[in-house]
Amino acid sequence: MIVGSIRENTTLEKRVSVTPESAKNIIGLGLKVCVEKGYALHLGINDSEYKNVGVELKDTSKEVLNSSNLITKVNCPSEDEIEILKENSILIGMLNPAKNKNQVDKIIKKKVKPFSLELLPRITRAQSMDVLSSQSNLAGYRAVIDCVAEFEKAVPMMMTAAGTVAAAKVLVIGAGVAGLQAIATAKRLGAIVSATDVRAASKEQVESLGGKFLTVEQTEDMETAGGYAKETSEEYKKKQAEIMKEALKKNDIVICTALIPGKPAPRILTEDLVKLMRAGSIIYDLAAEQGGNSAYSEAGKINLVDGIKIIGVKSLMNSLPLTASSLYAKNLFSFIRNLYSKEKKDFNINLEDEIIEKSLLKKV
Ligand code: NAI
Repeated sequence: MIVGSIRENTTLEKRVSVTPESAKNIIGLGLKVCVEKGYALHLGINDSEYKNVGVELKDTSKEVLNSSNLITKVNCPSEDEIEILKENSILIGMLNPAKNKNQVDKIIKKKVKPFSLELLPRITRAQSMDVLSSQSNLAGYRAVIDCVAEFEKAVPMMMTAAGTVAAAKVLVIGAGVAGLQAIATAKRLGAIVSATDVRAASKEQVESLGGKFLTVEQTEDMETAGGYAKETSEEYKKKQAEIMKEALKKNDIVICTALIPGKPAPRILTEDLVKLMRAGSIIYDLAAEQGGNSAYSEAGKINLVDGIKIIGVKSLMNSLPLTASSLYAKNLFSFIRNLYSKEKKDFNINLEDEIIEKSLLKKV
């Protein structure tokens, strides 16, 4: 059985789905691995590094697609690539079926079995495969690094002979995977950090990282059985806006990460609220590609409003593609290990396994 991977469109996507390390692990399962020549050269990984762990290098992507039983990708394949996919092969990636409905339809019609890793259940057994967590964790870290680079003041409190520099204040909205890493990173840099989230359970997590939790009083439990947030009521929004009013006047940097899966990002910072911040402040919106948590957020743009920089993030993983690829490839290896039966020497699409059942796209 052969696992193959082809280059992404590197102008849009710098990550790769197989690293030399993950290839070695896949080969260790008893599988063969092939990639096209120059597969990860843009990341500074030479073909020889793949060859040294036993990967076969093919001249073209077509040869890889023609000869592989299982194809790994970061993003959904293009129409041209779908044409070449082999019937009865398996495709694994972040296929984003809501956005790529036509492509996924074609893939299924070609009798290829597509697995979309964003749909993995968030259960303990699937943790090592959880691409959303591995990538969002990096996003939270990178958000702070980017903000600090844009911010025109120092972040930590400094006592110098010339006088004392006050620590910067960072507010994190949404304390999920990205938010908690942003809190931890901002704390490490010496910022004074506060955070808010609709899920009551996140208070303890924020506090354990040294952040102050801003509680919006509520009677209802805002967490679903799957651990995600519910949409907030009008009453909640009003209470949250009151708390934001005070917080925005005091904070220098706001990192927005609030997300409700499958829904547009909740709009938390209205135009009036944004304008309460001081000139020189920064709003960094990780949810910009889903519509943004803040007014003035536009994915891929930095907007300046009354001296406040509103950064709408796009394709953030291209800012640290090596680490992102390394974690993504590890997630993929764990998924393949679960899918492959060493006894049968074949992939075992066991629909009684929740991990396989939930991530396999049957129809869009
Ligand atoms: P997550 O689901 O782990 O966390 C989102 C948090 O927002 C949850 O804790 C939830 O309770 C909270 N939340 C939802 N509605 C809220 C509201 N009205 N007020 C306050 N909190 C609220 O999500 P994760 O993985 O941390 O991702 C965060 C965001 O970052 C998402 O929008 C995601 O798409 C984005 N992201 C963007 C990347 C990029 O390259 N642009 C890369 C990775 C993540």
